[in-house]
Amino acid sequence: MKIAVAKGDGIGPEIMEAVIGIFDAAKLPLEYQYVDMGKWVFDKGFSIGMTPEAKEAIEKLGILFKGPMETPKGKGVKSVNVTARKTWNTYANDRKFQTLSGVDTVFSKAGINIDLTIVRENIEDTYGGIEHMLTQDVAIARRFITRGGSEQVIRYAFEMAQKKGARRVTCGHKANIMKLTDGLFLEVFNEIAKEYPNLKSDDIIVDDLCMKLVSRPDLFDVIVLTNLQGDIVSDLCAGLVGGLGFAPSSNIGDHISIFEAVHGTAPDIAGKNIANPTSLLLSGLNMLRHLGMMEKAVMIENALLYTLESGVHTGDFGDKSIPSVNTTVFAQTIIDNFGKQPIQNPKPSLPDFNFVPTNSAITKNPMLLSSKNEAHKIVGADFFIETTLQPNELAAVAIKQEKDQLKLVTISNRGTQVWPTGSVFTNLVNQYRIRFETEATTPLTQSDVLDLYTELSKDFRISSVEILSMWGDKKAYSLAQGQ
Ligand code: NAI
Repeated sequence: MKIAVAKGDGIGPEIMEAVIGIFDAAKLPLEYQYVDMGKWVFDKGFSIGMTPEAKEAIEKLGILFKGPMETPKGKGVKSVNVTARKTWNTYANDRKFQTLSGVDTVFSKAGINIDLTIVRENIEDTYGGIEHMLTQDVAIARRFITRGGSEQVIRYAFEMAQKKGARRVTCGHKANIMKLTDGLFLEVFNEIAKEYPNLKSDDIIVDDLCMKLVSRPDLFDVIVLTNLQGDIVSDLCAGLVGGLGFAPSSNIGDHISIFEAVHGTAPDIAGKNIANPTSLLLSGLNMLRHLGMMEKAVMIENALLYTLESGVHTGDFGDKSIPSVNTTVFAQTIIDNFGKQPIQNPKPSLPDFNFVPTNSAITKNPMLLSSKNEAHKIVGADFFIETTLQPNELAAVAIKQEKDQLKLVTISNRGTQVWPTGSVFTNLVNQYRIRFETEATTPLTQSDVLDLYTELSKDFRISSVEILSMWGDKKAYSLAQGQ
């Protein structure tokens, strides 16, 4: 079996060499095709941070094992790590966090065992990076949550939870505030949960989740979240079990999957042969399971756990009274411990979750279509305009554009209603949203919205327009705060 390997930048090549050395010693039936990705590839003029040959090899082989990579700063280029995850639709970021003997934490000292998996949506949310300045003072980001994207990641979480015999699947969200975006994610979670009646499923508001994770982490098992919330919560969980160095990460897609360390390139220690290869090794073990090499994965993991509990450590963790070893010695100790079983650490389970990727050849971009098919109508529009007028002055100008049954219904600033009612204490920026809605039963057309745009543009600089829709009898837009 052949996989693509990208060594990465900074400590990447050192920890990759250590991990491949362990794999070779375990006589894995793996061949490696090294591909060119990372900062030095950006520096050579490849704007996405990888060569066309690397892209072709990864798309052909379907598995990328990668070290951390640096994104050059101030050159306007996007992170190659994020580009890879998004381009190849690795929709589920699966990160497992467990108490490890030899890695002391507040919880391990208190006898509280942690065994958590965070599944983070990996493509959507504000990570679309679709951002605009509406005025010189106001920046906005678009947050995409889609039914199809949510279905992919949530179904993965339930499948994984079922196969690993999880106690509970929890959806973390902020649907109390973001009723449409997080609301959609939660709706899809509740729909999919019904297909897994044997699994306990529930949901929790993300701030409450954070509080409970730091006080009772043992209560949770599998948690699924949207991208940004999942990003933050998964690093919080890394802290619970001793830091980023002990948290493996898999980016799972239907056709291509990426296995990588979660930490960065650690430029402060690069080239010194002192970096800890554990995170990359654990991610590599996830990859072996993904490829069905269960026995070898368990054998190597046992050796790693035995090594950790015997007190052998690199400089970044462990008992400071025991001298640390370098990367090469740490890796060699793991090899020397092949065949040994950990005594205090929980033994890795066999078989573990084995995700079966779809191997069919792809010729067209897959379209994630929903089965929902309700009648659509346009009922109004939000115009985002730049002005320093006071709310009443602005309303007086905008109201002149009301016609037939198209009425000005609300004006808000930073999402808070300031007209027809509001408070003089609300601070303003030079960017308002003015909302027109129709009172007529006949829906508006796109031309009606364009006509209104043309009229309003005579008085204001319009920075953006959002169509107000209804599907069936459901309004597909949120109210302003205070409306
Ligand atoms: P970092 O994770 O590289 O370093 C943070 C601290 O942790 C440093 O003190 C470092 O020495 C230490 N550290 C990290 N990994 C270690 C290891 N394996 N063994 C021992 N100590 C370790 O984070 P930082 O400094 O914020 O980022 C450095 C670069 O890495 C940036 O260019 C960033 O863009 C990139 N990065 C890449 C990621 C990826 O490829 N997935 C993820 C995060 C950052």
